[in-house]
Amino acid sequence: MVKTAISRQSKPKKHEKLTEINYRNNTESDYTETIEFLDKTFEYDAHSRDYWGQPELSLLYGTPLYEQASSTQKLALNHLYWATQYNQTAATEANAVLYNQVTAGVFGAFNGYDTLCQMLELETEQERSHIHAFHTIGYRTKRALLGKSAFNASILRKPGGKPKLAFNDFSNWIVVKNLVNSSLQEEAFRFFTHKVLLRHQVHSYSQYLKELEAKGEPIPAQTTGLLGQIAPRSALQFFTLNCGTSPFLACLFFLTRYMANMLLKNWEYRYVQFYRELNQKDCLIPAPTAVSYNHLMDESFHTTTSRLIAKDLYKDFPQPTAYEKLIANLTIYRAQTIGLSGLSGSVPATFRSDAAFILPLYRLLQSPVFDLSAQEAQIWLQQCLCQEHEGFHLNGKYHQHLLTELRQSFDSLDYLWPVNRELRIFTLGNNISQAIKHNRKVIEQFSRSLS
Ligand SMILES: [Fe+2]
Ligand SMILES: [Fe+2]
Repeated sequence: MVKTAISRQSKPKKHEKLTEINYRNNTESDYTETIEFLDKTFEYDAHSRDYWGQPELSLLYGTPLYEQASSTQKLALNHLYWATQYNQTAATEANAVLYNQVTAGVFGAFNGYDTLCQMLELETEQERSHIHAFHTIGYRTKRALLGKSAFNASILRKPGGKPKLAFNDFSNWIVVKNLVNSSLQEEAFRFFTHKVLLRHQVHSYSQYLKELEAKGEPIPAQTTGLLGQIAPRSALQFFTLNCGTSPFLACLFFLTRYMANMLLKNWEYRYVQFYRELNQKDCLIPAPTAVSYNHLMDESFHTTTSRLIAKDLYKDFPQPTAYEKLIANLTIYRAQTIGLSGLSGSVPATFRSDAAFILPLYRLLQSPVFDLSAQEAQIWLQQCLCQEHEGFHLNGKYHQHLLTELRQSFDSLDYLWPVNRELRIFTLGNNISQAIKHNRKVIEQFSRSLS
């Protein structure tokens, strides 16, 4: 493959040296191997009697229900918080698996980025092991605590009633029609990206995407995780093509990855503190706590990579065009709006509305952990989500901490609009009365959907 040379100084740049060091340190570490071992040997029963993190790392912590919960229920809420948080983390890390490959295909088109590409390949492999461990432990935990019902498709239905979704004989026809439409759409995306919007950057079109295209595969996109939720699938396919063509937008992906890294560290670091306390006291360390510890160690290498690319390396490439700046700003704006614009009263260190958690919480309250009737579950949902309590205030503290960290990093990125550079949407989300008002509306709708 012919690589493009970009103007380079005689001295290696600071980020090149740091990438070398970061790559070497990561290669020499064995955190991933430890996680793989813990994954293979995990049995819920062996760790079911211990807390996996401080009590505040529990679902519904600080709510009136938590105050009344028995010690067994509190322990279950502590374990289910781990499973919930790492389920979301697995989805966001699947975004990294995809875009690490897409963007390495762009950086690899230039001279001088071989170590960076090797680093991204290593990180991708590590994410695969992390995701596997999160799924194994999360699944076994939920299975033990909630039973099979935790894994039913989320179709609301009245007891004994029919599911609201139905399929008919036309469904196959609809699939064929959608395939034709989507391949036309993909052609249009490719045309606009490579012939119009980013035509001057076709030479850096990702090798990874070229290979998928040659095999006739669709443009990849995911619909879960922090990045996967910011737009509909087709818009994300267009985004994939964009950051798989423009080096500036390839670097922009790492700004979203950095946001995800910091969002994770904000609560995962508490598990690391817990791990160290147990270690100091020579206590047995539950496997999930050890997974959290080893994961944060792995992720500290990943965070360094994200920061280097998002804050320094992007300057190696031509200044962004007005179009590239627009895409970058829309991406960060949507990431704030979708993942960081609220304050949860039920899931600590989570900055989105409780709306997405209502159905799982409703099921939890009726599961063997609480064994409440449908009516009691609705009353408790209201009490936990529609009034001020300690859980909201605790989340406010996590919010403040993350905001300070992100603002420091975003401050120097002059291509960002002020609403993004100052994280204004995220800032406004730290509002308890607003969160409660929103929850009241959502719970009312939810109750209506059940009646
Ligand atoms: Fe990870
Ligand atoms: Fe990572």
